[in-house]
Amino acid sequence: MSRLVRTLLVIALACGAGAVVEDVIEVIRLGTDITGQVLDSWDAIGQLSNATGGVQFPYFKPKDQVVLTRLRHISGQIRKVEHAIDKVGAMTFYLGKNLGRGTDLELRLHEMTDLLNRVSSADRKMREYMGLQQELEKVTLLDFAEWCVSHDQGALPGLLERIHSLIVPPHKHLLGQSLLTLLQKRFQDEASETCTAAMSPHQLIFDIYNTVALTEIKGYAMMQFSWMLLRIYGKGNFTQEASLTRQRYSQRTAQAAAVAKSALSEASRDLYMCDPPMHIEGSTYEQVTRLLQGYVENEVDMNTDGTCKENCAHYTLAEKHGCYMDQFCAKQTPCRGRIIDCQYLDSDMWVCPASRNSNRRYEWIEYENGRKLGNVGSCSRGTTKVDSWWRWNLLHCSYCFCLCEDDVNSSERFFSMKEATADISNNKVVTGLRLVKIGRVFHLQVHEGTLKERGSVEPSGWVPVNKFDPNDPGMMDGIDYHTLTYEKRAIDLDELDSPEGHVLTGVRFRVIGAHLHFEIRSTPFNYTTGRLSPSKSQWVSNDNTEGSDTPRSKLELKTPDLPTRSHTRMEVDSNHDQYVEFTHSDFDADAAQSTVPFIDVQPVLPSKGAALATGAGVIHRGAPSSGGFIALKLRSYNNARHVKAEPPPADFTEEKDDAADFVLPVVNN
Ligand SMILES: *[C@@H]1O[C@H](CO)[C@@H](O)[C@H](O)[C@H]1NC(C)=O
Ligand SMILES: *[C@@H]1O[C@H](CO)[C@@H](O)[C@H](O)[C@H]1NC(C)=O
Ligand SMILES: *[C@@H]1O[C@H](CO)[C@@H](O)[C@H](O)[C@H]1NC(C)=O
Ligand SMILES: *[C@@H]1O[C@H](CO)[C@@H](O)[C@H](O)[C@H]1NC(C)=O
Repeated sequence: MSRLVRTLLVIALACGAGAVVEDVIEVIRLGTDITGQVLDSWDAIGQLSNATGGVQFPYFKPKDQVVLTRLRHISGQIRKVEHAIDKVGAMTFYLGKNLGRGTDLELRLHEMTDLLNRVSSADRKMREYMGLQQELEKVTLLDFAEWCVSHDQGALPGLLERIHSLIVPPHKHLLGQSLLTLLQKRFQDEASETCTAAMSPHQLIFDIYNTVALTEIKGYAMMQFSWMLLRIYGKGNFTQEASLTRQRYSQRTAQAAAVAKSALSEASRDLYMCDPPMHIEGSTYEQVTRLLQGYVENEVDMNTDGTCKENCAHYTLAEKHGCYMDQFCAKQTPCRGRIIDCQYLDSDMWVCPASRNSNRRYEWIEYENGRKLGNVGSCSRGTTKVDSWWRWNLLHCSYCFCLCEDDVNSSERFFSMKEATADISNNKVVTGLRLVKIGRVFHLQVHEGTLKERGSVEPSGWVPVNKFDPNDPGMMDGIDYHTLTYEKRAIDLDELDSPEGHVLTGVRFRVIGAHLHFEIRSTPFNYTTGRLSPSKSQWVSNDNTEGSDTPRSKLELKTPDLPTRSHTRMEVDSNHDQYVEFTHSDFDADAAQSTVPFIDVQPVLPSKGAALATGAGVIHRGAPSSGGFIALKLRSYNNARHVKAEPPPADFTEEKDDAADFVLPVVNN
């Protein structure tokens, strides 16, 4: 028989009995698979010993090779899952962020990382041996196998027990809480810690749990195969030891699963972005422009008669009607829309005009009475002196400080109301979200991925935006898009989630009353198969208004300066069932030249690969005296209900242990 056929036979034996699912990417299932295969391997040793006793299969003489080949196969499977988990690298990431803090949590994470690394390196060594199996000395393999089952503190069983005690502390009151629980509490206290990870706390904890569970499986496989090797080399029976190893493995995995399940069900599933290292317009944020902008206008130009018989406060809603004697009015861009809420601040002032391509009108204004609007400083285009005047009839023609709601063609305040959805007919779901400004219009954009079995998603890309300009033929205000105006400038802040058994497949804006309103689309799916039921999709929203019995509450922006000027972190300060109004920035801080909140356009996309999402929301991130940002958030899928320890198949000591079959000669060496 050729060497090739021999190898094939060995592999066939190794693969034959165990139902090997090639693309298991799930630790829990892998655990069941591996334990099943370990059992089959014990069987195989039994059968081989019988077979080799005869004459047909002299080729299996080095039985350690059979064991090693099986181990290699299992190891390959473990490797695959490991690769999927490494891609996420939750623990490494989290540690990287927290280096040097010296907290209890950090110390334990370090210890965990160290222990995991040691098991990993043993696993690597094992793989290396498998590659060299022909050349290795028996003593090398024996030595390794003995380490894998040794009682020594630093040997594999000890390492596994220490890893386990970090997840499930043996004495709750003495050694404190599980690492997973500590993590969950930390994320609860410092929500912003996870936003840079682009993972929800729930996902982070789930990934760490998976890493640990995978290590447990690795360790279990190594120990079982070590017992097998030891028996093959005639070191003893070890049936009882192998059985104990299996029992302890079941115990540990069951306990760890219970702890993980509870930490996961408590952990937040929210995913949103923090402040970027630098605020860059067009890349990290965008602005609504000229919705209500501070505007200096003389009374004389705000009435049709060109008189000055009223005062500033009279002009709550006006328009520009002329430009009397080409005074200051001729030197600035006129307000082409409505002039609102005028007030008298002082008679005379210096105005610093903004640069020509800016959306601002003024950099700053300084009144003679000392009041300063904006950051008064140097002025590149030169200041203009603006003085009110007296008429012959002793009427005072005052310069007022008003708000200009510019005409729609001079401002950028449109929101698309077109649906942004994943291609559900091709079984795609939403895996990421962002707001984008294209031309003058803000759009919701979704990132999609193909839904696979058991909650896995294969990312594909951003779904192109259905872009348009409000002036395009056929586009209707209120149907295709919403225009922010003085009366209609509220946006609802809602955090929505799908019903159980549904996933996120789309988002859209609608208008309810005078509010821009956010909705999500949910589609039911089968977790086992990963199939969506597109026809059963539904839109989910919180239709509560300001006028109901339990009215939607308003998020007030007090003296809002530009969020890009803030030195404090912008934390989420909105709650579900609130709304916020777009308004002008603060008079004193910014001469009311900008529209706040700004729009955060950073993509909300889980890092390193896709993750299943069930919900989404519109939130506000802000700080005191800042206009903050309108931003989006995602809610990741709840994995808690799928975390369970599947007990290994029935005890093999009872069925398989036929003494005669296991009498093994010491391998010729
Ligand atoms: C082992 O061999 C004996 C006799 O050669 C046979 O009766 C028995 O069924 C074999 N056992 C297995 C598990 O193949
Ligand atoms: C804006 O511009 C479009 C196209 O130039 C024009 O049709 C429309 O009337 C303008 N709207 C206003 C309010 O001026
Ligand atoms: C999901 O699909 C599997 C396989 O087709 C089926 O057995 C199961 O009943 C389905 N589950 C639900 C909830 O429909
Ligand atoms: C191995 O141990 C089991 C259980 O202790 C026993 O039933 C079996 O006969 C032993 N086999 C050998 C080869 O000693």
